[in-house]
Amino acid sequence: MARPIIIDTDPGQDDAIAILVALASPELDVRGITTVAGNVPQPLVTTNTLRLVELAKRTDVPVYRGCSRPIVRKLNTAEYVHGPTGIDGTDLPEPAIEPALGHGVDFIIDTCLAAADGEITICPLGPLTNIGTAIVKEPTIIPKIREIVMMGGGFREGGNTTPVAEFNIYVDPHAARIVFDSGVPMTVMPLDVTHKALVLPEHVERLRALGTPAGDASAGMLGFYVRFDIERYGFEGGPLHDPCTIAYLVAPDLFRGETVAVTVEIDSELTIGQTIADWWGMTDADPQSTVMLDVDAEAFMDLVIERIGRL
Ligand code: BDR
Ligand code: CA
Repeated sequence: MARPIIIDTDPGQDDAIAILVALASPELDVRGITTVAGNVPQPLVTTNTLRLVELAKRTDVPVYRGCSRPIVRKLNTAEYVHGPTGIDGTDLPEPAIEPALGHGVDFIIDTCLAAADGEITICPLGPLTNIGTAIVKEPTIIPKIREIVMMGGGFREGGNTTPVAEFNIYVDPHAARIVFDSGVPMTVMPLDVTHKALVLPEHVERLRALGTPAGDASAGMLGFYVRFDIERYGFEGGPLHDPCTIAYLVAPDLFRGETVAVTVEIDSELTIGQTIADWWGMTDADPQSTVMLDVDAEAFMDLVIERIGRL
């Protein structure tokens, strides 16, 4: 049976690829997609998600608008990475469909409450505002969640927004603290692994060679996206952060990690948003997070391209 998941997202070119791969994967039953302000503000993340659902010809999947700002801090966006639209590099038409009625946080709560214990997987690809808010509003959803499989954090790799903080955690560290401290089993794709999951120029060409609207849009978006990390970090390509979560759900053996306790710094101006792992068991905290550290990068990219080829 396909695994029921909710995707929570702020597209973002790498979010876009994650959404396309998920919607192309029969192993996953995408119950709905919730949007959150992050890479670009609401309502742009919502419009972008609607565009992607149409591109994938999966308008059966409802898209819910979620939170418009972090719980405590002002919204920080990342147009410097993703361009002013969030998905620069392609020119997808204005969506014909509308967001579903209701709020994303309530969709998460209602879907979990209607499910059996341990049934629903939540897959956050942006700041954790919606997930943290859902947990605070209705903590009885916690036992319904099988696992949160998320992109965020940086451990031995450091940060990409401050020296120690990764973007998704930095934007809403308070929400991230709520989620990591909730006791829900977590599988975490931090920069430590996503910086090994590089999309190279040859992968962009393979996507373009698919000769389909989804292949063209993916090649266009990634062709734009890779320039930032190549210039900023001297990488050979761009880290395909968010698709690591979906690839893990489809093919977990591609990834290797360690299960440890993780929490998030919220008090220090210098290190706010840092994810802290207890690698050596120095605290009494339960090891609830599997932090991924390695990936079979070539098999990962093969999977991404093969799935986009199905659309
Ligand atoms: C994360 O931040 C965003 O810019 C990307 O979409 C990804 O979710 C990487 O730090
Ligand atoms: Ca994202």
